[in-house]
Amino acid sequence: MLLDPGMDLTLRPMKYPHFFDRFKDAIKNTWTVEEVDLHSDLADLARLSPAEQHLVSRLVAFFATGDTIVANNLVLNLYQHVNSPEGRLYLSRQLFEEAVHVQFYLNLLDTYVPDPGERSAAFAAVDNIPSIARKAEFCFKWIDSVFDLRKLETKEHRRAFLLNVICFAACIEGLFFYGAFAYVYFLRSRGVLQGLASGTNWVFRDESMHMAFAFDVVDQVRAEEPDLFDAGMEQQVRDMLAEAVECEVQFAEDLLEQGVSGLSLADMREYLQHVADRRLMALGIEPVYGSRNPFAFMELQDVQELSNFFERRVSAYQVGVSGSVTFDDDF
Ligand SMILES: [Fe+2]
Ligand SMILES: [Fe+2]
Repeated sequence: MLLDPGMDLTLRPMKYPHFFDRFKDAIKNTWTVEEVDLHSDLADLARLSPAEQHLVSRLVAFFATGDTIVANNLVLNLYQHVNSPEGRLYLSRQLFEEAVHVQFYLNLLDTYVPDPGERSAAFAAVDNIPSIARKAEFCFKWIDSVFDLRKLETKEHRRAFLLNVICFAACIEGLFFYGAFAYVYFLRSRGVLQGLASGTNWVFRDESMHMAFAFDVVDQVRAEEPDLFDAGMEQQVRDMLAEAVECEVQFAEDLLEQGVSGLSLADMREYLQHVADRRLMALGIEPVYGSRNPFAFMELQDVQELSNFFERRVSAYQVGVSGSVTFDDDF
């Protein structure tokens, strides 16, 4: 089984070909930080209102460390316990993508925050800015919850690990990052910071796939060990998402405290609740908030990005791969 302790090395016959498909799909979304021109944003930054500048400075301070935390959990926990060589191929690719994100946000802060003192303060936000510190504490709590588990021997171990996987996919990549992307796309809808938005398009696709892979892992474990998903586990997932929403609402209060025209705290809260409901539904759990998506600029993003991208790339690639050998799954 997927969570059985060990280091399975056997790619043929392939037990989890859908993980291998995720790996191949991720490679189609390859990009480099050099492709994203952030300098076009500098003139916009200078003409933002003080309230908008505050929003952007908090946002980049969150980006400064967010992906590093995710990468750490990936190596320390996911790679260790997802016992499938094709699953670990995907996780290796994800680790590379997180590294690209770290580089992208490093570049973002170097460009947006020229003053070395202010830049250092942004990187230290996890210690100094309460709304960002709270989100980091939430992440570290769930990293630590499984840190001492070397082998998933018991059902309780496996449930603890699943909660970690669900936390990082649904709450961190799927909610903290989605919340952050909403601010970027709000700004784009106002005609500013197109450079940041163009880089975010790439990151958004990556994060959507990271989440999809993690949910695949959860679905696979559910198929193999359905008794792990009992009522207690469901309640823990609901509580975890509720706490994540609270963290992200506190972050929104901080970002929007000076009043950003066109973006209300009430709408942001509703958006976060809507996203949390979607994560619960993806996990087969009844939604709790019943909130709608108040942001038209995010609807476009959510639905179109992945499908359009893959249709375009897959058809483009098909020319290149015609004539290649197709292996059967049980080759
Ligand atoms: Fe990332
Ligand atoms: Fe990610």
